[in-house]
Amino acid sequence: MQRKLALVVGIGALTIITLVNLTSSKRPSAEPELPKDTITPIPGSRHLMVSAFKDHRLGGAIRVISVICKQERQPLYCVLCANAKADAKADGALNQCAFSPAKVDVHNESFGSPFVTSDVLCMSPALQQATHVSITANQNANLTFLPIQNREVKESFKYNFTVCISNLFQEYNNALQFAQTMEVYKLIGVQRVVIYNTSCGPDVEKILQYYRKEGMLEVVPWPIDKFLPPSAGLKYDFHHEDMHNYGQLTTLNECIYRYMYQSKYLLLNDIDEIIMPYDHANLEKLMGTLQQQHPNVGVFSIKNHIFPGTKFDDSGRIVPGVNILEHVYREPDRKDVFNPTKLLISPRSAQQTSVHSTLKQFGLFFNVPFDVCRIIYVRVPLQRQLSKDQPFVDQKLWEFEELLISSIDRALKESGVL
Ligand SMILES: *[C@@H]1O[C@H](CO)[C@@H](O)[C@H](O)[C@H]1NC(C)=O
Ligand SMILES: *[C@@H]1O[C@H](CO)[C@@H](O)[C@H](O)[C@H]1NC(C)=O
Ligand SMILES: *[C@@H]1O[C@H](CO)[C@@H](O)[C@H](O)[C@H]1NC(C)=O
Ligand SMILES: *[C@@H]1O[C@H](CO)[C@@H](O)[C@H](O)[C@H]1NC(C)=O
Repeated sequence: MQRKLALVVGIGALTIITLVNLTSSKRPSAEPELPKDTITPIPGSRHLMVSAFKDHRLGGAIRVISVICKQERQPLYCVLCANAKADAKADGALNQCAFSPAKVDVHNESFGSPFVTSDVLCMSPALQQATHVSITANQNANLTFLPIQNREVKESFKYNFTVCISNLFQEYNNALQFAQTMEVYKLIGVQRVVIYNTSCGPDVEKILQYYRKEGMLEVVPWPIDKFLPPSAGLKYDFHHEDMHNYGQLTTLNECIYRYMYQSKYLLLNDIDEIIMPYDHANLEKLMGTLQQQHPNVGVFSIKNHIFPGTKFDDSGRIVPGVNILEHVYREPDRKDVFNPTKLLISPRSAQQTSVHSTLKQFGLFFNVPFDVCRIIYVRVPLQRQLSKDQPFVDQKLWEFEELLISSIDRALKESGVL
């Protein structure tokens, strides 16, 4: 049975054929309408779609990373399209499409937000060669097609260690902190940093441009505030904060799929955190050991210990501003308080993630001992009562001091911040 839908795609109409009866469209093929932004509204709904990836671990299902509005649960549809010409570029005309119901897998974590990171899954055995996908709640809508990424499995990767920093927002302008984090990461073996940018201040803008030009940084635009604007008597009284931390969970999940075949490991942490090996000279050596001891582990959980942001060493170390070299007083581990963890993962083991743990994964999970690797965290102290002689001194970063100070200095000067 054939089903004809009045889907207007770019310059012309396409014949959309059901899963069962896939044949070429009789109409001339059309250029697909491609997304204008990293975030695209799903027609006929308040939901948003972000990007699409083939998941070879799930029999080639197409996963569309999405943001689903919990109050609205109308059926969603997948439109998978392929370019019939084998050698055509991915952005060429689409002339074979299959229409099927979508399966929505809402992640089991939203921190109370009405907008929840979700996977919209499309399974169409008839279209294993699909190059583009669109999700819609309205069968008559004009569709925007997302290119399907990760169509090939890769066994070797461009990077060994990539850091995913979930987002920059509220005009974040601490260029020094950013440069320090980047330079420390370089010294311990990170080759790539990905950052999702909602907004930033003028100094951070300069330092982002510097590291992007230098080649270590990928900046992904993340204009979530444009799509979930502050409420003005809307049906749902939402604020953009309602998308927890500007969609942090969505960007972390997006990063996992974006780098699935680009990086051997991913570090999922915030901008003011550094995952630091203590027993090994760098991440390569750390993971060499850990992975040998735990061959079936794909998710490594790293403990977070708070560095009081207000306590400084007296020796007057040099770099001004929020200087991580000064944060050498680690607060004692409080047994009764949960120390949130961050993750170091093989992206090919992860299926869905939250901030402190994965939600769905394929491999095993391992808590890395505190003395092997932990997070250096620069922020205001949680334990306010500490006097300076109480916390034990953690001088790990001083090992890098000389190298760090000159490279941070160069970054700040060459970027034009100083
Ligand atoms: C969601 O996670 C919580 C806490 O881990 C668990 O108790 C609950 O059963 C989960 N719900 C679903 C639907 O998986
Ligand atoms: C689809 O796009 C065309 C051309 O931009 C417009 O005229 C039409 O109203 C749109 N249809 C829908 C359902 O939005
Ligand atoms: C990744 O690690 C492998 C093996 O340890 C090494 O041969 C390779 O050069 C590393 N790649 C990068 C980009 O550093
Ligand atoms: C970050 O996002 C803001 C707001 O869209 C934009 O003005 C700025 O140029 C972006 N910075 C980079 C480096 O992409």
